[in-house]
Amino acid sequence: MNPPLDSFASPHSVSQASLLDTMAVLRDVVLPTMAKGPLIRRRKVVGLAERRGLDDKAVIRMQKLRDKYGPGPLLLRIPLRHQAVILSADDASRILDHAPEPFAAATMEKRAALGHFQPDGVLSSHGQERAIRRRLNEQTLETGCPVHGMADHFARIADEEMAEVAAIALKRNELDWDSFFIGWYRMVRRIVLGDAARDDHELTDLLEQLRRRANYAFLRPKDRKTRAAFLNRLRRYLDQADPLSLAGRMAEACTDPAQQPHHQLPQYLFAFDPGGMASFRTFAVLAAHPEIEAKVRHEIGAAGDVPQLPLLRACFMDVLRLWPTTPAILRETTRMVRWHSGQLEKGTQILIFAPFLHRDDKTLAQAHRLDPSLWQQGNERPDLGLLPFSHGPVICPAVRFVPLIATLAMKSLLSRIRLTLSEDQRLSPERLPGTLDNYTLRFSASAAGLEPAG
Ligand code: HEM
Repeated sequence: MNPPLDSFASPHSVSQASLLDTMAVLRDVVLPTMAKGPLIRRRKVVGLAERRGLDDKAVIRMQKLRDKYGPGPLLLRIPLRHQAVILSADDASRILDHAPEPFAAATMEKRAALGHFQPDGVLSSHGQERAIRRRLNEQTLETGCPVHGMADHFARIADEEMAEVAAIALKRNELDWDSFFIGWYRMVRRIVLGDAARDDHELTDLLEQLRRRANYAFLRPKDRKTRAAFLNRLRRYLDQADPLSLAGRMAEACTDPAQQPHHQLPQYLFAFDPGGMASFRTFAVLAAHPEIEAKVRHEIGAAGDVPQLPLLRACFMDVLRLWPTTPAILRETTRMVRWHSGQLEKGTQILIFAPFLHRDDKTLAQAHRLDPSLWQQGNERPDLGLLPFSHGPVICPAVRFVPLIATLAMKSLLSRIRLTLSEDQRLSPERLPGTLDNYTLRFSASAAGLEPAG
């Protein structure tokens, strides 16, 4: 049940930023985040962000704002727009707890961006439509279950595809992003749409084209023809759904045409992209932490078919904390909301900037170090402001599914190959960088159990 207007009791006060500070937030936080690409990453900008330390600068900017204005929401001075940034973990989790009323997930920007390829997806839906589409997603992804019912089958798929990636890497003595990603997406298409989609690159290419437009939200017109071609193709997969796929599960669970299953599936395809990035970064982090890698290998050696692998999973979660793949969690107020002092008007756009909460070295001692122990209690730490999958009623419905699939894939690869980073790419465990460009990471690969040559 939604709380009455005045029961949203944050002890903090709303402040108003100066014009100079507003410009600094736009320059250091908003612009770099948008430039990297909200819907599909622009490789060159990610590389630039790494070289220039842009994510570190963004976190420092947010810390300065909190020091100056206090922990309450900060309203920016932007003409014709109510825009607030959130400066405390406490307010972030309170806002996320109270979605979609009075803090709607279907914000103006999201509706514009997602409209390019999934206008009726749950993330840009509100009211009754949101409720029934959310239900369909939760049933498909089995959000409430620790292990998905089809995990055995998905484990086999992950193993087959990663065996191929490992074989190519061993032949070349090297693993780079592109060859990992080809295998990763074969796995994703089989899990999401069934075996028949394994080599349907055309489908993911269509989606990529639409996501590039979506990066510009309302600044680019919709390509309705490509969108229709893409959505019709997905509809065909649903019509002849492979029962051993998420599409099969979704087709079975769908009870109302307004749930629009073919508008839900694009998210399943594009959101596995960050799952691949985080897995690839996990390899880099393990290479920088030999003692943790040794424990992970021990865990893998002792694991069964659908292993729990708590340490590997926790490393993956901590990589998502260190480099959150959804850095901007957005909300829009559906009515006026009072804080302890001050208020946010109806229609206020709210930015929760996850890297600030995850890398705040003033509140988190291990901010810049790998610490899998943070995730021993599960996949959520709103108490610490750690929100890689968000939190509350709009939490990513794949909050358990993604770590499961990533863990299965990483296990399969690591059981076959050992990965090391070259001298110039090596990470310092004491101070991990604010940005880690997955596109340029390159590992030398040797058979697992053997020491790398040279
Ligand atoms: C590393 C991978 C992923 C991360 C970090 C991630 C994280 C997130 C985040 C932060 C949100 C926004 C929630 C909010 O606005 O509060 C979200 C929404 C969502 N995610 Fe994921 N996600 C990932 C992968 C996936 C995958 C693979 C799927 C599907 C198979 C998926 C399905 C969804 C859906 C359907 C929503 C919309 C939920 C709603 O609006 O109620 N995600 N995800």
